[in-house]
Amino acid sequence: MNDSSEKKIIIAIDGYSSCGKSTVAKELARQLNYIFIDSGAMYRAVTLFFLREGLVGNGKINLPAILEKLQLIRISFIFNAATSHNEVFLNGENVEMEIRQLAVAQNVSQIAAIAEVRQLLVAQQQEMGRSKGIVMDGRDIGTVVFPSAELKIFMTADPRIRAKRRYDEMIAKKESVDFDEILTNITERDRYDETRAESPLRRAADAIVLDNSYMTREEQFAWILDKVREKRNEN
Ligand code: DC
Repeated sequence: MNDSSEKKIIIAIDGYSSCGKSTVAKELARQLNYIFIDSGAMYRAVTLFFLREGLVGNGKINLPAILEKLQLIRISFIFNAATSHNEVFLNGENVEMEIRQLAVAQNVSQIAAIAEVRQLLVAQQQEMGRSKGIVMDGRDIGTVVFPSAELKIFMTADPRIRAKRRYDEMIAKKESVDFDEILTNITERDRYDETRAESPLRRAADAIVLDNSYMTREEQFAWILDKVREKRNEN
């Protein structure tokens, strides 16, 4: 699959939180020699910035101050050869680990619902895809960021299965977590993502659905590679 003479395409992977979108997208990019961008990491980094500024949290949000400070934020990705992964930087600081904490997860939906935040990040994401050869995962990649992407995948899985996967991940990292808290966070984020006014989570009409509730990573990956082959032959 890693043939540089083949035409490069854009692969948009959208779907619910904790579906394993990033895992699949990352592996796909590695095999195709494409760039992988986790757009959720960008929304998380912006959220971390405003958490540190005390402008979001405890169910409150200071929108005027957020809009004023938005231009102070610079998000970038730097490839880490040791992990084979693009890590996210906030104003020059590596925040790849910190953005995965529950405090960020609990506030990111509110930040991601702000139109000005989305405009800023969508413009950056479109720039990253200018030369194609990119796999980007998120919520609005196939609908807003790259509506003409050659391959669009919409991933979903049962919320309890998603919560269990996230729980196992956190336990493996020796974090103290509560399953019900994770499940609540996942279902609340789904609801928020689907009902927000700005770019709500929607399946693009031309996206192919992948429900991975009962699929192994290998099965998912084989399924997607098949779709990539089809699309590359079509285009
Ligand atoms: O994929 P994730 O869980 O890391 O995403 C974090 C949050 O960012 C999620 O609650 C929804 C939001 N998000 C978004 O609104 N648009 C995107 N393209 C990616 C993520």
